[in-house]
Amino acid sequence: MIVRERTIACGDGRSYVHDGIHACIAANVALRSHLVSGSAPRPLRFPDTAREIMFFTDETAGSTPIHFVYEDGFEGWFGQQDEPTRNWTAANSFRGEKNKVLLIPGPTGKPQRVLLGLGRKSQREDISCWSASGLPDRLPEGRYHLEASGLTAADAKQFALGWAYGQYRFDRYRKALPSKSVELRLPRGADLAEIERLRAATALARDLINTPANDMTPETLANAAVAVARRFGCRHRQVIGEALLAERFPAVHAVGRASSVAPRLVDMEWGDASHPKVTIVGKGVCFDTGGLDIKPGASMLLMKKDMGGAAVALAVAQAVMDAKLPVRLRVIIPAVENAIAGNAFRPSDVLSTRKGISVEVGNTDAEGRLILCDALALADEEKPEVLIDFATLTGAARVALGPELPAVFSNDEAAAAEIVKTAHAEFDPVWLLPLWSGYDDELSSKVADVNNVSSSGFAGAIFGALFLRRFVSDAKTWLHFDLYGWNSKDRPGRPVGAEPQCARAVYAYLKNRFAR
Ligand code: BES
Ligand code: MN
Ligand code: ZN
Repeated sequence: MIVRERTIACGDGRSYVHDGIHACIAANVALRSHLVSGSAPRPLRFPDTAREIMFFTDETAGSTPIHFVYEDGFEGWFGQQDEPTRNWTAANSFRGEKNKVLLIPGPTGKPQRVLLGLGRKSQREDISCWSASGLPDRLPEGRYHLEASGLTAADAKQFALGWAYGQYRFDRYRKALPSKSVELRLPRGADLAEIERLRAATALARDLINTPANDMTPETLANAAVAVARRFGCRHRQVIGEALLAERFPAVHAVGRASSVAPRLVDMEWGDASHPKVTIVGKGVCFDTGGLDIKPGASMLLMKKDMGGAAVALAVAQAVMDAKLPVRLRVIIPAVENAIAGNAFRPSDVLSTRKGISVEVGNTDAEGRLILCDALALADEEKPEVLIDFATLTGAARVALGPELPAVFSNDEAAAAEIVKTAHAEFDPVWLLPLWSGYDDELSSKVADVNNVSSSGFAGAIFGALFLRRFVSDAKTWLHFDLYGWNSKDRPGRPVGAEPQCARAVYAYLKNRFAR
């Protein structure tokens, strides 16, 4: 059931009733208490993760060295060690295996050195930010530094970044582990502000995605966006509930109207109007039941993360604004729940969209592209230089590439090549898939301008992208990311749970393209 709200909140935090009918406010309150069932979300803060002290810079302070040991360089390394070290290493069967950590005690029994196994030196990924990120968890309280021989400045930076990432916890709903202080001497040349910027952006997005849908409602998500907007002094507005119809976001309204929390769209804008226009759009489906084309239980289980695109969008936006990149940034987040009720949109319904293209609903579970099409149309109206959208859009992208590789699509070959390269360099990889025009006619409908799904069972990720492409005509560079937003296996620094894939890659891409 939808709560009938006609409110548009303006940038200064006040709200006004869109149609100027004041009685509506009282009616709203009454309606809300009457219609909303289920428990109210907890009042939460984002980010939830307090900043810990993770680095120090005093080179004279005592600290324990961390040595890197490669598995394939192990014999050589071993031969150079003193007898107690060799005995201790052998007794603990440490051979430099990937992610293995060994503390070497000194004469008093206190740790004197830390060995970190890096595995085989065969792939570039063998040393990345993730090499370090398991350490803060596993080391005892204290101060550490890198024994830097053989370590490039770039590696050291990655290591410091991983150290920061590795301290992320999601313990909002459980008793927190006792906190401990594990500090790293900041490697020379590592930029602490940049590390903190990326850590904070990642922590924000992880918190948003990890928070379950009973607390992460379209309202909470929009509030989190507004909190970011306020922190960086963005102009922003929200279009909520029925106002989506008056303001011409009919598809956002259709998808979100069956939820007890009204659908909405957040639109924020930051920076100098004369700078190049960069617009970021994120899919904010706070829970995806599939709608009337309901998902089976196993497929629904993870669908709290279906606002992962919005979380990534906010992470990138926060980093861009914090770094004060010379761009005019705009962030558009349609926030809805794809719920089921008597007023839910149905398969075979024909929806209007902002761009004036009518859409036949072939499947209510292809809801992401429906809310994105209105958001992209809005973004496209001002002909941005770069238009980027992030979405947990299709299961098909995961079938093609698995959980670790988001798919990227673009109308701009040069930009596509550049983002793939940058993503690889940032250890935040993405894989290019084609906007294959040859399939486009399979989105045709007998009753409307387009269907939201194709009848073919093939190439689902491409159809998602081709559908979106119809709503982008004037943006110079358009990049569409179809991501998973989730770590499906435990790795050091990347526990099972939320992961804002693409955020670091896209931030770096924008920095490379626009920073002075
Ligand atoms: N949110 C899902 C896509 C998804 C599923 C992402 C699983 C990651 C993991 C999306 O809304 C969806 O349900 N897509 C459908 C599209 C289909 C109906 C054309 C899908 O992929 O099955
Ligand atoms: Mn869906
Ligand atoms: Zn979805």
